[in-house]
Amino acid sequence: MIHLQIEERLRTAIAAVLPDAPASAASLRPCADPKFGDYQNTALMSAAKERKINPRQLAADVAARLDLAEWCEAPEVAGAGFLNFRLKPEAVAAALKLPLDGPPLFVSPATKPRTIVIDFSSPNVAKPMHVGHIRSTALGDSLARVMRLLGHRVITDNHIGDWGTQFGLLTIGWKRHLDAEALERDALGEMERLYKQVNAASEADPSIREAARQELVKLQDGDPENLGIWKRMIALSQGQFDTVYGRLGVRFDHTLGESFYNPQLKSVVQELKDKGIAQDSQGAVCVFSDGTMLQKEDPFLVQKEGEWVANPVLIQKADGAANYATTDLATLAYRWDTWHPDEIVYVTDGRQQLHFRQIFATWRRWYPERVDAVKLAHVWFGSILGEDNKPFKTRSGETVRLTGLLDEAEQRAFESVTLKNPALAETERRHIARMVGIGSVKYADLSPNRQSDYVFSWDKMLSLQGNTAPYLQYAHARVRSIFRKAGQQSSAAPVDLHLGHPDELSLAKHLLKFGITLEAVCAEYRPNYLCLYLYELAGHMARFWESCPVLKAEGIEKVSRLWLCELSGRVLKQGLDLLGIEAPEQM
Ligand code: ARG
Repeated sequence: MIHLQIEERLRTAIAAVLPDAPASAASLRPCADPKFGDYQNTALMSAAKERKINPRQLAADVAARLDLAEWCEAPEVAGAGFLNFRLKPEAVAAALKLPLDGPPLFVSPATKPRTIVIDFSSPNVAKPMHVGHIRSTALGDSLARVMRLLGHRVITDNHIGDWGTQFGLLTIGWKRHLDAEALERDALGEMERLYKQVNAASEADPSIREAARQELVKLQDGDPENLGIWKRMIALSQGQFDTVYGRLGVRFDHTLGESFYNPQLKSVVQELKDKGIAQDSQGAVCVFSDGTMLQKEDPFLVQKEGEWVANPVLIQKADGAANYATTDLATLAYRWDTWHPDEIVYVTDGRQQLHFRQIFATWRRWYPERVDAVKLAHVWFGSILGEDNKPFKTRSGETVRLTGLLDEAEQRAFESVTLKNPALAETERRHIARMVGIGSVKYADLSPNRQSDYVFSWDKMLSLQGNTAPYLQYAHARVRSIFRKAGQQSSAAPVDLHLGHPDELSLAKHLLKFGITLEAVCAEYRPNYLCLYLYELAGHMARFWESCPVLKAEGIEKVSRLWLCELSGRVLKQGLDLLGIEAPEQM
């Protein structure tokens, strides 16, 4: 009986013949083209470089010493020093006969579990969540799910924007123009309206700007009335955020908004000044370059007309107020002290790249001794575009609200489910439509490379064909329908597993690569690798069904095929779950 995943066996074997190389030298990835094998090691090249030997020679030496005859054909040296492995069909069959009640299927739990903080979603209070928030929310949630499944200790924190100068204007709006009925109906919409109205008025009338400043000072000084209004705005916003998160099936371990760090801001600024990292500059306090980085990598420098000029980060304004950057530094220090994370991941849009480079660089100067202890990663993403290739907006040019978008997704999915399955009861159709609609929006977001912009298209994302959520959900429903027809809930691992047809073998091999795919998702913060894996899985399943009848087969062939259906269904469901997408029993 096999207890270790195939990839773990291969890695252990490689590591055993390279005792003094780093563990990464034994890492594997799936071969891009099955012509060359199933798994590939590309990491021996850097080990060879270190030892100053020819990489092909090292690969050949390693291949000669590996004892993997039970699992693989003889490994082949390829390219500049790659090592390719092809599994033996018997080994694939043996690896597939796993008990179902053990650890997650085809996943090797992390040998060194890490503590990982993920900061994602993080909308701003008093503003409705818009379509852009789906990206941070779906990406962050999926990364958290994958990392947890791999055995890491994940802490999710929603760093909501609940503090800032906008509360001056908002307080004026609240005191002078509040429409209680509108607030009751759509709190975030009403707060947004107030903000826009007062902001526009203040542009024409400087006395409003001054009044807003005073309201803000009162709030900062703890004036009970202003504090009460501010708390009310937060509670109303949080209520609406929670409704959206409920629909999306997303939860957070913590929601420590920006205001949580207010008490620490003064001392952060003081400490950075005391350590000589921050300096007074025209009444404000800033962090400048310390000249230790290459100019082109230094976030405190920017090139202007061919010259490198200072590009400091402001941590205290001339009026004494701290800002977004100060809060992020305090947040970093708090997370370190509270959770001792090995890694902190921030999921935001690409426009915040400079901000995070500056924060991370400041942190490295603030606590040089912690630089190796905690990995800081800014996981950024591109924009969502409309079909006209411009930023996605409503017809009247407004940002698209998330709530309305999710309503429309469910409604459209309901129409297509009804078309396909008119006989189902309406409640059942609504239930399926919810999973399909929300799943489609998430999948459209998760499946492209996160750093590229993508075009939002209802027709594409809801299509049953192509790389979409409904296509994957349908493949899962098809598995369930096979079992319904077979008159059984599920199937058990056969004593003998027969993988006679090439399409069975390819499907089986693909199943085995689930865990290694998740490792890549986690290492590079890219759920799109999982999307591609699932899309390919559904393709393998379709080809298998095309060439291998399941219910009409007999004896060992039938049991083996049912088992392949069972495993495929499970991996598909688990994979979708890691993307935050539900898998209906029928569609
Ligand atoms: N509230 C911010 C925004 O809407 C995102 C916060 C991201 N997290 C952080 N620690 N800065 O842009």
